[in-house]
Amino acid sequence: MNNMRSPLIIALDFAQPEQALALAQQLGSERCYVKVGKELFTRSGASFVAQLVDLGFKVFLDLKYHDIPNTVAKACQAAADLGVWMVNVHALGGRDMLMAARDSLEGYSQRPLLIAVTLLTSLGEEDLSGMGLHGTLQDNVLRLARLSKAAGLDGLVCSPQEIQLIRQNVDENLVLVTPGIRPAFSVKDDQKRTMTPKQALEAGASYLVVGRPVIAAPDPLQALRNIEAEIA
Ligand code: C5P
Repeated sequence: MNNMRSPLIIALDFAQPEQALALAQQLGSERCYVKVGKELFTRSGASFVAQLVDLGFKVFLDLKYHDIPNTVAKACQAAADLGVWMVNVHALGGRDMLMAARDSLEGYSQRPLLIAVTLLTSLGEEDLSGMGLHGTLQDNVLRLARLSKAAGLDGLVCSPQEIQLIRQNVDENLVLVTPGIRPAFSVKDDQKRTMTPKQALEAGASYLVVGRPVIAAPDPLQALRNIEAEIA
């Protein structure tokens, strides 16, 4: 293995930091990126994120900030102070919140990438009107993607099915991070609209979030190697 990381972000979806750290160290900081989400963060705190960063891991802090602009700006600075590689917010927080998040990272020589969630992929068309959102899912994703780009964000979290829509209609250079990835050898779990890693990269994804196909595999490192082989 050379020092080139693959575009895989491994979701450390564990309750206990010891489990997350053991898995991360088994995979190695040079091999992939890691993602810390709400459960692990709430249980293990910022000190665990700092520990991962100190060990050389590139950490995507997936806390999806959504609050008033000042609060989100301060939270983004706290993430940057931890040295994370990527952090995210909800585009539904609105233009001022997105701009405050972006502006808050201006002073950092090595700032984290800042990306936005448009619509959670758990939402269906039938959920939108109840939330006061008009139009189709795609209309809303595009509207929020354009808002995020106009606010100066680096990219978006999106479903693999939305990659081409966004690249063609918003910006071909945005950083696009896609969950819902299932390698050819893997089961789908609760993800419904999946793509294989190769399909998602061919569709234009920048990074792929992979959780259970690696972390729940009998041999996680071998599972990661198998995915690397699929996308090689
Ligand atoms: O195990 P699996 O590969 O399905 O894990 C996907 C990861 O990506 C989880 O951490 C999940 O919270 C996250 N995620 C997702 N769908 C989104 C956004 C994030 O599955 N729309």
